[in-house]
Amino acid sequence: MSDPYDSDRLFFPATQRNVGPIGDVLSTVLPRSGVVLELASGSGEHAIAFQQRFPFITWQPSDPEALHRRSINAWIDHKGLNRRMPTALNLNVLQRPWPLPSATLQSLSAVVCINLLHISPPECSQAVIEEAAKLLPREAPLIIYGPFKQNGVHTSASNASFDSSLRQRDQRWGIRDQEWIEQLADQQGLKLIDWHQMPANNVTIVLRTP
Ligand SMILES: C[S@@+](CC[C@H](N)C(=O)[O-])C[C@H]1O[C@@H](n2cnc3c(N)ncnc32)[C@H](O)[C@@H]1O
Repeated sequence: MSDPYDSDRLFFPATQRNVGPIGDVLSTVLPRSGVVLELASGSGEHAIAFQQRFPFITWQPSDPEALHRRSINAWIDHKGLNRRMPTALNLNVLQRPWPLPSATLQSLSAVVCINLLHISPPECSQAVIEEAAKLLPREAPLIIYGPFKQNGVHTSASNASFDSSLRQRDQRWGIRDQEWIEQLADQQGLKLIDWHQMPANNVTIVLRTP
């Protein structure tokens, strides 16, 4: 039988390379139940992989781009996960409060944000941290993945040139300082629990209300 959504599925090349390492970190910090809200899910390849890898939680994907939401929903359908996970929410982190269904709000147990903070204005970093801090119950983690500077310094030549290319595309974009993220989080009561050096000069930051 032909798949009516097949042409909607997008393939983001980096996801196949990082889905395993990110999943390995998630396996150490995700709660054993509840709803995990993923911001900026993009193609949806991470969402379906993590729903399959962590069947005890409900993975709630989201993205403000209609094209991306179609891709996410097409991936859910393609993998036969329709009964296990919800469709993608139309969620722009800058539009607050975030439009979460009440069931999601009640069971929210983690927020995951992969590769958003450098491809968006600084206000998005602030919105992610402020809103996550407001919504997450005690001890529920906010997990952020992407490239970061350490103490204002790029950790590799490739990150430095990626940063320049981002700023050429939009001067408000750019690789953020990990310390700035930690500071913003601290102001909202989210403490750094752990951070992991990831392949290809990326980092996973785990924050949580103590
Ligand atoms: C580089 S892609 C990352 C997608 C996916 N997380 C991944 O790692 O493959 C950035 C994503 O952020 C989304 N995005 C951009 N601005 C956003 C905003 N203000 N709020 C939420 N998502 C946003 C885009 O639509 C896009 O899907």
